[in-house]
Amino acid sequence: MANATIILAGIVTLIIGVPLIDYSIPGKEIDELAGETWSPLDQSDWQKLTRSEIPLRVSFARKQTDGYFLPHAVEDYVWGVKMSEAQWETMKRNRPHLFEAHSATTVPYVNRIYVAGFVIFSPICPHLGCRFAWNANMNRFLCPCHGSVYTRDGEHVAGPAPRGLDPLPLREREGKAEITWIRYKSSTPDRVVVSY
Ligand code: FES
Repeated sequence: MANATIILAGIVTLIIGVPLIDYSIPGKEIDELAGETWSPLDQSDWQKLTRSEIPLRVSFARKQTDGYFLPHAVEDYVWGVKMSEAQWETMKRNRPHLFEAHSATTVPYVNRIYVAGFVIFSPICPHLGCRFAWNANMNRFLCPCHGSVYTRDGEHVAGPAPRGLDPLPLREREGKAEITWIRYKSSTPDRVVVSY
């Protein structure tokens, strides 16, 4: 009986402990995250983005998990920005905190921010979580809730937001663009992952 209890405890520890250790490894490659991490972007929206000089909304189906329902897909969107190499270099200069080593503002997937000439931003304002939008007249992203303003490359330039826009990991697979959805904590200069 005692041996059976020890074996059972060991199995439970392994089941719970391994994923916890796995997700706590800093700098973990986003490709290694388990299961259904990557979501394809809407092909039609993506095609429009490839021809657009202004940022566009790009739809995708996000997996949602909550306490009462099985994981299910919900329609959502991100903001896509087409960038030349020169614009990307400018973004890196303007937003060094995204890339600095050992900084809490750094994203753990710096090699996946700029892919195939595009950058994808989470649509969630880092201030208190409203959804911002592109304002073509001002050439800026604007948040309607408290007036935070961001440049085309996501740099925060006005309003109460504590940091710039959050880029999301992007990749191309078999001709399709895919992203990983990440929800970051609001109201903090650091990028703290709340959920994937
Ligand atoms: S939620 Fe965007 S400025 Fe407050």
